[in-house]
Amino acid sequence: MKLRYLIALTAALSFSTATFAADEGETLFKKSGCSNCHGISNKLVGPSFKDVAAKYKADAGAQAKLESKVRSGGSGSFGAMPMPPTAKSVSDESIKTIVTWVLSIK
Ligand code: HEC
Repeated sequence: MKLRYLIALTAALSFSTATFAADEGETLFKKSGCSNCHGISNKLVGPSFKDVAAKYKADAGAQAKLESKVRSGGSGSFGAMPMPPTAKSVSDESIKTIVTWVLSIK
């Protein structure tokens, strides 16, 4: 009985942590100026984050690659339009959280 309760509790806790991380990524995306150029499912100046997630679905190195791309900017993944470097006011930690969230979008 006790064990069952523990298992249920652990499951509930890990679920809420994942939900929290996703929420935080989306909040940071809106706060950090990304939403001026990116939609979650619609293309604006930049690709939709759904398209980004789909493109890197099978790429194990995507997290690190995209973190440095968001930090420094660049072009060539989705076309000639460059992504500008991200302002220093957005921390590496925030970029990491946003990229984790982007890659989790389905
Ligand atoms: C001024 C417009 C603009 C802003 C602001 C912007 N982006 Fe982008 N982003 C782009 C464009 C354009 C591309 C496509 C670049 C390419 O084709 O390589 C892109 C590409 C990307 C990609 C895919 C990169 C790749 O190589 O596949 C990610 C991830 C991304 N942006 C995340 C972000 C995040 C996170 C922010 C906010 C911190 C942000 N972008 C802000 C325009 C923007």
